[in-house]
Amino acid sequence: MKVMIVGGGGREHALAWKVAQSPKVNRLYAAPGNIGMARIAKCIGISPSDPEKLANFAEEKDVDLTFVGPELPLSLGIVDLFVKRGLRIFGPSQRAAKLEWSKGFAKEFMGRWNIPTPPFKLFTDSLEAMDYLKGRRFPLMVKADGLAAGKGSILAKSFEEAVDAVKAIMVERIFGRSGERIVIEDWLQGKEVTVLAFSDGKSCIPILPAKDYKPIYEGDKGPNTGGMGSYAPARSIDDDLMEEIKSHILEPTIKGLSEEGIEYRGVLYVGLMLTAEGPQVLEYNCRFGDPETQVIIPLLKTDLVEIAEWVIEGGLEGKRVEWEEGAAVCVVLASEGYPGRYKKGAPITGTDGVANDILLFHAGIANRGGKLVTNGGRVLGVTAKGEDIKEAREKAYNAVGAINFPGMQFRKDIALEGTDG
Ligand code: GLY
Repeated sequence: MKVMIVGGGGREHALAWKVAQSPKVNRLYAAPGNIGMARIAKCIGISPSDPEKLANFAEEKDVDLTFVGPELPLSLGIVDLFVKRGLRIFGPSQRAAKLEWSKGFAKEFMGRWNIPTPPFKLFTDSLEAMDYLKGRRFPLMVKADGLAAGKGSILAKSFEEAVDAVKAIMVERIFGRSGERIVIEDWLQGKEVTVLAFSDGKSCIPILPAKDYKPIYEGDKGPNTGGMGSYAPARSIDDDLMEEIKSHILEPTIKGLSEEGIEYRGVLYVGLMLTAEGPQVLEYNCRFGDPETQVIIPLLKTDLVEIAEWVIEGGLEGKRVEWEEGAAVCVVLASEGYPGRYKKGAPITGTDGVANDILLFHAGIANRGGKLVTNGGRVLGVTAKGEDIKEAREKAYNAVGAINFPGMQFRKDIALEGTDG
């Protein structure tokens, strides 16, 4: 089989690593991929934001199956285009992916189907939004309606911070047209965790729960990033809670969409707050999470290509997805200044010195004259597996200790909550 992975970050590297191990696959393409993926896939110079060119390539090379990593091509309708041209692709349609590309749509959808989510209000006018903030309790969340690379949710701890967030999103347009509408949402106390599930539009199979660390600094301080690290399985979700999440959130989401004429096929990502009143949905994403994928995929025993075929053919019901025992921890290394402005081109040393069983998933790395240099905000994901979270964590941080580049930032508390330490 010929398989193509769309995207070029740590998540796509992890997907490519897994797909390359499938006995069904004899040719792997990545668009555009990265230098880590180039070791296992042929990287082609087509941007994920160009579905037409990707479909042309898939037709020309007889690609049997395409995986979509990032949200942008989904929001542009890549799945609809591929399906129209008879090409097999793993991911939701543009209408289904609206759960991610419009936070307002997602909140109203949850309201229609009684899916638990914090109270909210939608605004298209910044003055009305600021007026609403008067007399509210803080903190609260101010969220851009559209896509914002994981940075569109701002925690406002005071009236002044909330007004600044509204101005930044709606007036200064720091996220461009994604800030035409905003959601102002009550802030809930609890533990945040990510649950993903494979869905074929009728039934779903939950994926191992993971914990993502979004803020840049330890103790969840500072602005949100795309994710600074992750671990799985997340400690705060046991089998009973997973069953509750499945029956109260995952299944009603898929059923609600189906009743509205939308078949959700692919990976459904649910960002949850575990509160005293039960799990509440903070956000949906319509794809694998990053860096969650960098810990989930290494623990997946079942062939990912086979799962994708079940999803596409509507045959998930009754299938089993198997996971390794033990745990995985991923620590993200980021450039100085990230998630704000950062420089590229810092020389990276030490990647050759890490233990053989460490997985280095490349995100923002380039090869300049035979030397590795930084080429993005998130540079590298360092993943280790272990018998338990403690062992995986120690191995991951040992490997991080061997790697360096000027201005390297990483959090030192990834997975600490899972170790009793
Ligand atoms: N880690 C958060 C995301 O993938 O959106």
